[in-house]
Amino acid sequence: MKELLDYFKANEARYLKELTEFIAIPSISADPARRHDISKTATFVEKQLKGAGLKNVKQYPTKGNPVVYGEWLGAKGAPTVLVYGHYDVQPVDPVEKWKTPPFEMTIKNGKMFARGTADDKGQVFILFKVIEAYLKNTKQLPVNVKVIVEGEEEVGSTNLATFVKKNQRLLSCDTILIADTNMLGKDTPSITYGLRGLTYLEVAVTSLSGDQHSGTYGGGVANPIQVLAEMLVQCKDPKTSKIKIPGFYDDVVQLTRKDRAELAKIPHDDMHYARAIGATKTFGEKGYTTIERTGARPTFELNGIWGGHTGEGVKTVLPASAHAKVSMRLVANQQPDKIAKLFIDYFKSIAPDTVKVDVKLYDNNGHAALTPLDSPAMRAAASAIKKVYKKDPYYTREGGSIPVVADFQQLLGVDAILLGFGLPDDNLHAPNEKFDVSQFRAGLATTMYFFEEFAKTK
Ligand code: BES
Ligand code: MN
Ligand code: MN
Repeated sequence: MKELLDYFKANEARYLKELTEFIAIPSISADPARRHDISKTATFVEKQLKGAGLKNVKQYPTKGNPVVYGEWLGAKGAPTVLVYGHYDVQPVDPVEKWKTPPFEMTIKNGKMFARGTADDKGQVFILFKVIEAYLKNTKQLPVNVKVIVEGEEEVGSTNLATFVKKNQRLLSCDTILIADTNMLGKDTPSITYGLRGLTYLEVAVTSLSGDQHSGTYGGGVANPIQVLAEMLVQCKDPKTSKIKIPGFYDDVVQLTRKDRAELAKIPHDDMHYARAIGATKTFGEKGYTTIERTGARPTFELNGIWGGHTGEGVKTVLPASAHAKVSMRLVANQQPDKIAKLFIDYFKSIAPDTVKVDVKLYDNNGHAALTPLDSPAMRAAASAIKKVYKKDPYYTREGGSIPVVADFQQLLGVDAILLGFGLPDDNLHAPNEKFDVSQFRAGLATTMYFFEEFAKTK
């Protein structure tokens, strides 16, 4: 569609101006103080969907942040695409590490810097603009579309499953399109067909009713930081990186020889991979490649650990307690609740009788998901990529999570096509998040072709 490609070019300045406004609202879902900004962002999305020409646009309140919905169902006999994205973003700390203000879009060397440019405002915005371009230029779309944009993805989409359950008819569709993932590189386009699941907990190990002088009491009672460290060490074998929680691997779908052969085709260099993030070398579960370990194998990760004196200088203290935030990335068919319970039981079982253990389970969880490669929607995505990038895509498994994808599969019976345009160096969840303008442009064209190609499949 030459007409639309020209339209994208002619309207780029306006797109970037609108995206700058979208980015400027600090919709951090993890921060209760940002409730008002969440609401402003939902209203911004509502206006975008209306402006794009969608019908029945409205905000659906949930127990948490509102879901924004809109649809265009004028393509008689054509398939229906449910488009999903999220308008919430991650916190910006450590804010001093940002080279430009986190909520001020700064375009430099063809890269847009700000929180949410890649995850996910800049990407979901591509979908808004493709729909708008079709409806403005041709008064129609080749497929029916339903758009759902939520505001709780970064905190585990806690209330979205309930929304999907309640609105199964409203959301019924033939495929789901999501732009919230990465490609291998600008010149190595790829489609994600797997996401990991997640469970997230916080543990506290307490040995005293209050902090004490480390000289007076040190040596007399257990030090909770020491105990916590010893307990955490017992969760994963230091040599093999096998997770030692009994039953942890029971439900893991093992990689087949064919899976492994497919993953081995992905261009990857361990040294380059490590260097790019300042690591001396790769490290992880024995017997698996880095690609396998990050996409198709579960992990046990420590996200934070604290206790006692962490401020400047010395303070001779015997702390009362020690804490850690622990998460596990899961793969099919591991159940987050079951895994959390296995961890809690094991963690309590290894605690010495000198301490009390408290565990808090966060509801930031999600199931892993896999999309079959041989579906009409997947083929449509591959030919759309080929039209724009002039190359066949690779198929990759993402180590991150998008919790609603498994809920969609289960509740709507439909798989999601993860056609995202981020790049591995986008600094997601970190300071100086960016999104390449060239990927934004390629995203517009690829998504346009996806709709066209998918229309031919019914
Ligand atoms: N867009 C990401 C998922 C992702 C991560 C895609 C890395 C590509 C590369 C998503 O917004 C995300 O960050 N998900 C969270 C989910 C969690 C809070 C339940 C994640 O993976 O940590
Ligand atoms: Mn995201
Ligand atoms: Mn994210």
